[in-house]
Amino acid sequence: MSETSAFDVIVLGAGAAGMMCAATAGARGLRVLLIDHAPEPGRKILISGGGRCNFTNLHTGPDRYLSANPHFAKSALGRYTPEDFLALVGQHGIAWHEKTLGQLFCDGSARQIVAMLVAECDAARVKMLLGHPVAEVDHADGAFRVKVDGRDWSAPSLVLATGGPSIPKLGATGFAYDVARRFGLSIVQPRPALVPLTLGGEDALFQSLSGVSAQVEVSCKKTQFREAALFTHRGLSGPAMLQISSYWQHRDPLSVNFLPEIEPEWLLRQKQAQPRTTARRSLAAALPARLAEVLSERLSLEGDLGNIPDKALRAAQARLTAWIFTPNGTEGFAKAEVTAGGIATKDLSSRTMMASRVPGLHAIGEAVDVTGWLGGYNFQWAWASGWAAGQAL
Ligand code: FDA
Repeated sequence: MSETSAFDVIVLGAGAAGMMCAATAGARGLRVLLIDHAPEPGRKILISGGGRCNFTNLHTGPDRYLSANPHFAKSALGRYTPEDFLALVGQHGIAWHEKTLGQLFCDGSARQIVAMLVAECDAARVKMLLGHPVAEVDHADGAFRVKVDGRDWSAPSLVLATGGPSIPKLGATGFAYDVARRFGLSIVQPRPALVPLTLGGEDALFQSLSGVSAQVEVSCKKTQFREAALFTHRGLSGPAMLQISSYWQHRDPLSVNFLPEIEPEWLLRQKQAQPRTTARRSLAAALPARLAEVLSERLSLEGDLGNIPDKALRAAQARLTAWIFTPNGTEGFAKAEVTAGGIATKDLSSRTMMASRVPGLHAIGEAVDVTGWLGGYNFQWAWASGWAAGQAL
């Protein structure tokens, strides 16, 4: 028997989802081949969470994900939970901590998570083929054939785990979509998500605040996030803006509350308490000084509070709690932490991740139209969907 027929499953993509799937299937006794064009596995894991990998979130639930079908992620997320991943992390002696909002990070380095997944794949006798581009994928006589470096490998099951096209310089591609399309699966238009937004026109004046960050509440249509925002030389970033970017569509206005913790009529009370203080100084008690300066200029709040009419102060506070920015775009896939959209969930089983009309073909992780919030949710989806497929293969 040639080596080509010796595998039960071929997993394309040795990232978070692919390694989890390969290790899970291998541990069940399946012969697994894991292929990646990058020379090392888990590159995005290595740079994630500032090098400490925000590997899951304690508040994981389907409401933290965007998808054309909001129910699709329920099954996998419910069967492989953050606690399950923590148990694995614990078995490998990796120390971790909760930073904020349920986000769990390694105390040491993201390398530990990659080493853990590689060790799990080794223990499950997964064969890894790294550093070779996949030249061809086809399907005949109940077997998938994958050509790598002039050599054919085949298996009755194929798992697409090559992620989405965000951050191409890390080796990210739209390969999974191309293969999926070839097998007749639909693709929900991929778009950059968790991505900085760019400002132009009048809003471009805020670029002078590059480097300033403030706690805000940002809203887009019916969605809102209360976290830090960061002004950049191109526009808006920071957790609040990255989160809202996943919901933003071209021309949507964003409403930013610069005073999320401040009570109504606060400026009026400031006026009564300290009439000889300037508006700018008052605002600087609640906001970074440079932001207070730019906002008071834009609102024409000149001079002492005592000389500004109550009506003008009320109007100013109303604008400060609903400041409208209309981004003119995003920084694109080059800067997007994830890709929203992808392989349509309507063509996949939510329990097995298998294509309903192509027996043996599976898709997991970011390649699928399931996109998490910032904060460890995307890795939890990669682990859960990888595990679900690995159990079902
Ligand atoms: P992933 O992208 O991890 O893996 C895909 C693999 O397929 C890669 O190894 C790639 O080389 C390979 N591949 C691609 N095309 C191929 C081809 N044509 N042939 C062969 N192989 C191919 N999430 C989170 O929850 N917490 C966090 O802290 C962070 N931080 C973070 C920081 C940065 C800078 C980025 C860019 C992203 C994050 N993320 C994150 C998101 C997270 O990294 C992402 O959602 C998961 O890695 C997705 O896992 P997948 O396995 O689906 O794809």
